[in-house]
Amino acid sequence: METMRAVRAHERGGPEKLRPETARRPEPGPGEILVAVVAASVTAGELTWPASWTDSADGSGRDRTPVIPSHEVSGTVAALGPGVREWAVGDEVYALIPFTRDGAAADYVTLPADVAAAKPAGIGHTAAAALPLAGLTALQALESHAGLRAGAHVLVQGAAGGVGSLAVQIAVAKGATVTATASAAGAHYVASLGAGRVLDHRTSRFEDEVSGVDIVLDCVGGDTQTRSWSVLRPGGVLVSVAEPTDARLAERAGARGDFFIVEPDRTGLDALTALVDDGRLAPRIDRVVPLADTPAAYEALEREHPQGKIVISVAEETPRADEV
Ligand SMILES: NC(=O)c1ccc[n+]([C@@H]2O[C@H](COP(=O)([O-])OP(=O)(O)OC[C@H]3O[C@@H](n4cnc5c(N)ncnc54)[C@H](OP(=O)(O)O)[C@@H]3O)[C@@H](O)[C@H]2O)c1
Repeated sequence: METMRAVRAHERGGPEKLRPETARRPEPGPGEILVAVVAASVTAGELTWPASWTDSADGSGRDRTPVIPSHEVSGTVAALGPGVREWAVGDEVYALIPFTRDGAAADYVTLPADVAAAKPAGIGHTAAAALPLAGLTALQALESHAGLRAGAHVLVQGAAGGVGSLAVQIAVAKGATVTATASAAGAHYVASLGAGRVLDHRTSRFEDEVSGVDIVLDCVGGDTQTRSWSVLRPGGVLVSVAEPTDARLAERAGARGDFFIVEPDRTGLDALTALVDDGRLAPRIDRVVPLADTPAAYEALEREHPQGKIVISVAEETPRADEV
């Protein structure tokens, strides 16, 4: 039996249940690839989701413990399962791994071949691992759920965060006018991403400053979402990734509300790759930690307010040709 390093939880709970240990190296099944992980990243709340512990999204399925967390990965294809034609051993890929299977806090992970995409050539694995979840969430919110078009006025609530900062960049790249909310600490960063106006949510009320907005992207929820209806134009849309929208408030505003959960999506990753390669999209990384510190990384997400993603470095990056 081939083994690998993995961080696993043998019973449900928070970061305190995660242990660095030795596990069996998985083998790719039909339609799957085995990826040698170079970097993975961690997401707040992940250990509380039913899908993180079972094989169904709503938690009603089979218990999967022991589980490996961290569903964003960047690495190298190490083996192909039966029937996989689109990848070759050695290809550099990145992916959002379905939450209902093991994640990438390990030397190796298997995943469906069709959720992986070619890693953006211009960035390393560390940066690539910081993109899939927040990047796909931002892209799916703006394109699939809000129907973003060039010229639209978009208000991004929580623009200094993981999803919000990528949403600002994507909206600007698609020709939108962006107003953003952030605290003073993030204002300069958000403005540097191309937001036309940045409103400090601690010292001002955004509804006194903007109106007639086509799209609100809500990455905050709560009172921020409730107050957001008033800034939409009739027929506008409020897409939330933070919590479900209220149908009665939507109707009263003459607008549409939409809440969704991000899905693995190769086409979306390819679109993110194109933006990265064009220099129009870059993730924000708070820190990079070794694999054994994965439990501490999840603890940090609960205790602190990281400025960007926490990335787990699993293997050393091979320097790119232009870096040698
Ligand atoms: N539905 C999905 O599929 C999906 C996918 C990914 C994430 N999410 C959820 O989406 C939300 C955002 O995720 P994230 O990863 O971007 O989180 P994050 O990195 O913690 O960002 C949240 C941001 O909101 C800002 N903020 C807090 N209160 C605010 C307010 N009143 N007005 C404006 N900004 C405010 C925070 O900045 P300051 O503290 O500096 O103000 C922070 O930058 C979370 O609830 C997460 O669970 C959902």
